Amino acid sequence: MERTLSIIKPDGAEKNIIGKVIERFESAGLRIAALRKIKLSKEDAKGFYIVHKERPFYDSLTDFMSSGSVVVMVIEGEGAILKVREIMGATNPEDAAPGTIRADFAANVEKNTVHGSDSPESAGFEIPYFFPALDIC
Ligand code: CMP
Repeated sequence: MERTLSIIKPDGAEKNIIGKVIERFESAGLRIAALRKIKLSKEDAKGFYIVHKERPFYDSLTDFMSSGSVVVMVIEGEGAILKVREIMGATNPEDAAPGTIRADFAANVEKNTVHGSDSPESAGFEIPYFFPALDIC
């Protein structure tokens, strides 16, 4: 059993596809262990994406992530980290396989609808960034 952190980004919340995104994860046998809809401040977004702080897109990405509401969730299941990343598709929707969330809904590499932890180490940082252990069931 593995846990990962996923975010439905502001473009996904704005398009009213929260249910559709969650359905993709649930129908693959994954379970939602925790979920909240929140609005990140610029500082919240900068802290979450601190690993990208030297990247040229850091300022724009954190502006976008704090531009509207997001849904943060802990997803669990066997191989959850890899499964969620497969269901999301490649970071750039132009490269995402047909039938993935990003291929179907994302506008571009920044407004790419969903986030998922890329490794157990990332999940170990990202899950407690939003959820105390007692809020995960
Ligand atoms: P995510 O999986 O949340 O991880 C980091 C995010 O940075 C990524 O999705 C994109 O939203 C964004 N990102 C990655 N590469 C680029 C890029 N080349 N230009 C703009 N944004 C990017």
